[in-house]
Amino acid sequence: MDILIVGQGGREHALAWKIRQSKHANKIYVIPGNDGMRDVAQTIDIAMGDYPSIISFAIDNKIDLTIIGSEKPLCDGLVDMMEEKGLKVFGPTKKAAEIEGSKAFAKSMMEKYNIPTAFYHKVKTFEEAKQVLIHSKYPIVIKADGLAAGKGVVIAKDFHEAFESSVLFLETNPCVVIEEYLEGIEFSLIAFANGETLYPFEIAQDYKRAFDNHQGPNTGGMGSYSPVPSISKEAIDEAIEKVMKPMLYGLEKEKRLFKGFLYGGLMLTKDGVKVIEFNARLGDPEAEVLLPRLKDDILEVIESILEHKPKTLLFDQRACVGVVMASKGYPLHYEKGFPIEIGQEHSTIFHMGTKYIDNKYVTFGGRVLIAVSLGKDHDEARQKAYQTIDNISCDNLFYRKDIGLIK
Ligand code: AMP
Ligand code: GLY
Repeated sequence: MDILIVGQGGREHALAWKIRQSKHANKIYVIPGNDGMRDVAQTIDIAMGDYPSIISFAIDNKIDLTIIGSEKPLCDGLVDMMEEKGLKVFGPTKKAAEIEGSKAFAKSMMEKYNIPTAFYHKVKTFEEAKQVLIHSKYPIVIKADGLAAGKGVVIAKDFHEAFESSVLFLETNPCVVIEEYLEGIEFSLIAFANGETLYPFEIAQDYKRAFDNHQGPNTGGMGSYSPVPSISKEAIDEAIEKVMKPMLYGLEKEKRLFKGFLYGGLMLTKDGVKVIEFNARLGDPEAEVLLPRLKDDILEVIESILEHKPKTLLFDQRACVGVVMASKGYPLHYEKGFPIEIGQEHSTIFHMGTKYIDNKYVTFGGRVLIAVSLGKDHDEARQKAYQTIDNISCDNLFYRKDIGLIK
């Protein structure tokens, strides 16, 4: 099969790497990709937002299957546009991807289908926001309705901060979700899905904050690990039964059948599992630690779910830890173009944002690389990932030192 992946980060590198191992894979293209993934795929210089050119490329190259990694093309309806041309795609349509594209839609679905989540109010004006916030308990969570690349959530400690964030978000969003602050252990549950058929991955944990001990601003994710020993099998089953299945059922019922990767960002609270958010794609950097643990041939898994066949996925029982190296200043302002020397590797390195110039890699994004290792336990996986990191030199990268530390 000839495969096209749309996206450019570590998640897409991991996907291409995993597909390369499939006995059914022939050519693998990534649009636009990044130079660091050329070990497993051919990158194509078309912008991620240039949908007509992506579609023409897929037709001209007789692509057998397209996988869209990134949320923006999904929410813009690239799947719909490709399917109209008779192309086969594993990804949700625009209407199904709204589960990620609109927080207000996601909350209304959870309400309608009885899926446990934080209490919330949807507000459309400053005055409505003020009325809700005057009567709220703090901290409270303020969420922009639309896609915000990880910058659409503020945990506000008091009225002043909450109102200011609501005003800011309302300037660029039709509405804002004001939500109860939940306490507990966060985890990510991702499943291959097609209507009500789902094959869950094992769970992963993401590190959202920029610095050690969960300090600093929210990022796209500074590292991840899988499995997550602090979440019991019962809690995972609860998440599948009470969150993932009802959401897939609900979406189908609403004529928004979901096909692709459904991502539940979940919290185990003292009252059980609750939803923080849904995404319509693989997590990044969760994909980078989940795909190395998946033993099945990924193209067979996708073919099987497209035909709605029952299947249980097989996972490597070893632990997997991934440590991200990001440009200094990320997630705020950062510079690009710093040379990277990669020494001895004890891990797989997925490139998140690099470019190959004059025979060397240089930094080319906020998140730049992720070193991913399997080990007999989290400690061994973690040590190997950090050994690799120690052998990477670059003047402008930083990383967290507490990824995969299991307390
Ligand atoms: P999101 O963009 O929805 O994933 O939110 C980013 C991060 O904000 C999450 O990973 C949580 O750590 C935090 N967060 C979002 N919603 C809540 C909530 N209701 N209670 C507590 N923390 C939250
Ligand atoms: N790592 C969180 C996300 O992909 O949204």
